Amino acid sequence: MPDKKQVLSDFYYREAKKRGYRSRSALKLLELARRFHIFREGDCVVDLGAAPGGWLQVARDFVGPAGKVIGVDLSGIEPLPFDNVYLVKGDVFDPSVDMKIMEIAGGPVDVILSDLAPKFSGIHDLDHARQIELARSALKLAGRIIRPGGRMVLKLIMGSEFDKFLREARRMFQSVRLYKPKASRERSSEIYLICNGLRCLSNQ
Ligand SMILES: C[S@@+](CC[C@H](N)C(=O)[O-])C[C@H]1O[C@@H](n2cnc3c(N)ncnc32)[C@H](O)[C@@H]1O
Repeated sequence: MPDKKQVLSDFYYREAKKRGYRSRSALKLLELARRFHIFREGDCVVDLGAAPGGWLQVARDFVGPAGKVIGVDLSGIEPLPFDNVYLVKGDVFDPSVDMKIMEIAGGPVDVILSDLAPKFSGIHDLDHARQIELARSALKLAGRIIRPGGRMVLKLIMGSEFDKFLREARRMFQSVRLYKPKASRERSSEIYLICNGLRCLSNQ
């Protein structure tokens, strides 16, 4: 007999499939977007760690045909049937990927999403350290390309570096809230940062 947690987890998997999403993670972003009003119609959005594309689908739904969504991942992503969804295959640590994003965006962006996650080893401290490194690269990119006042959603794996990272995010944004969406597995130590109002700092 599956336990209650497995049944719930399967519920989100089935629900995502039923709604045509490519990942169950899409339901996490959907909840975050509705609860924290992350997107506006016409926004330019960069999605880091975008494969297989569930967050891209949700972001495109919110920004509509007037917006632009740019997905970046090490893995290839099956194209979405919209001409305003752009895909970049590459590593977020590679500066040429930043250049490609900026070229496609054509100016400052409104929102950066980061669901970046390393291949998990099962060793919590190692996975946490790798994930924080990825999240930090997203935060650095935000400092360079989000417009003043812009927004960010970031996944973090809880661990020893969490408080330090949170302070860094709070230094950059006027407001940073923490939230664990219902579709996030209870046993997972992931949490999402919802960052609003990028400050204009000269040393970002
Ligand atoms: C949890 S998945 C993202 C799921 C996605 N949000 C969705 O809803 O479909 C995390 C992704 O981060 C990507 N990733 C990990 N390290 C990366 C890196 N250095 N550069 C780009 N993408 C990376 C992985 O390839 C993986 O596809």
